[in-house]
Amino acid sequence: MRLLILFSVFAVFVTAFPLLDLIPEFRSTFNQLINSNIFQINLQDNKDRLIKLGPNEFKIVSEIEKLNLKRQNKNFIDLTNQISIEKAIEDGLINKPTTSIWDRFFLIGAKQIKTLKNPIPVYNYPTELSYTKEVKSLFELIDIDLVFKKLTKFSSFFTRYYKSQHGFDSANWLYDQLNKLISEFKEISITKIHHDGWDQFSIIVSIPGELKDKVIVGAHQDSANLILPNIMRAPGADDDGSGTVTTLESLRVLLQAYKDKTFKPYNTLEFHYYSAEEGGLLGSVDVFSRYSAQNETVVGMLQQDMTGYTQGSIDKGIEPHFGLISDYTSIELNEFLKLIINNYNNISYLETQCGYACSDHASALENGYPSSFLIESDFKYTNKFIHSNLDTIDRLDFDHIKEHIKLTIAYAYELSLAKKLY
Ligand SMILES: *[C@@H]1O[C@H](CO)[C@@H](O)[C@H](O)[C@H]1NC(C)=O
Ligand SMILES: *[C@@H]1O[C@H](CO)[C@@H](O)[C@H](O)[C@H]1NC(C)=O
Ligand SMILES: [Zn+2]
Repeated sequence: MRLLILFSVFAVFVTAFPLLDLIPEFRSTFNQLINSNIFQINLQDNKDRLIKLGPNEFKIVSEIEKLNLKRQNKNFIDLTNQISIEKAIEDGLINKPTTSIWDRFFLIGAKQIKTLKNPIPVYNYPTELSYTKEVKSLFELIDIDLVFKKLTKFSSFFTRYYKSQHGFDSANWLYDQLNKLISEFKEISITKIHHDGWDQFSIIVSIPGELKDKVIVGAHQDSANLILPNIMRAPGADDDGSGTVTTLESLRVLLQAYKDKTFKPYNTLEFHYYSAEEGGLLGSVDVFSRYSAQNETVVGMLQQDMTGYTQGSIDKGIEPHFGLISDYTSIELNEFLKLIINNYNNISYLETQCGYACSDHASALENGYPSSFLIESDFKYTNKFIHSNLDTIDRLDFDHIKEHIKLTIAYAYELSLAKKLY
């Protein structure tokens, strides 16, 4: 009998799903309901995870607790593959877990600020631009119809959830796109970074420069519907399909110049497509931990996560603009970005904050690499439809995506050619 009741409740909820996505106000009540035990059966993997929620805040949680944090818009880095729980206890990052499960829910430890690698080096970024003519001529090559087509396809995967077959399929599609772009250049490499624990790989395209020092452009390829990530649709058009196609098009344009031999990086230029950002920056923290272990130098990492939504600004009577994230980012690299925006873009920026670990740039910073994050607008006007089946392409502004593409091309061009950074 109890089983029957449970089953009926489940059936009602399943029928209610489309309705819920249409009426956002219902969602918080619904989330509370599903956070009660019924739906936890969907999360197979119940191993403990070590997460970092702030500069001083570590915690041991389960997969369902991780999902609940994301549902409450609380961001974190999942460091389980980097630091064992035993080591975290030994280093005083967390208290020793007690036997009571209840106590574990409230376990927050750590007395001192710990990043995986400290301190962050300061580089002398250019204070004036050297290639305005070359860069502006590249803007002519930006093909927004092509960007629209790519995003239509990328957001048509049922979901790009990192633990799903669809998420693996979308990664393979993205890999093929990138591979086609670079196939004629034998010195340019493309690498699948396989991660321990899930199938969706991260992708790195590397255009070697005279130096091994890296200039990095990043976006995350995964999406997630936070109601039930392993069952429900997550087009992820803005988050972060938009950032993915922004950097994909930037790479395509830069490679035209590379082919014409008008552009060859001095610093090594890399384009990164991270897996599992929605799982707590899992892919990017793996990538940057490896770079750190290999003593790689990264002179600047720029993340773009959500580049297409302007309606939130327009609704408030505010002109479309970039959101330059000013917390947990590199002050010096942000200054360089301001120089780029002021000279290359038709829109301006507002400085804004998004909290600890709000996207993959945090993984770079944690590993001792200066990083910045440029988002579609002031954080308070950003897309509210993300993490649901409403994050669709029709809500996006491709003129705005074009500004992000211009910014990416200019950043990559100017910084990869910059010398005497230290
Ligand atoms: C990285 O640098 C450290 C300290 O200089 C050194 O001990 C280590 O062997 C280096 N690792 C690699 C992979 O080069
Ligand atoms: C952006 O500004 C440039 C000049 O800096 C101008 O040529 C171009 O038409 C502008 N584009 C848009 C979309 O306003
Ligand atoms: Zn995102």
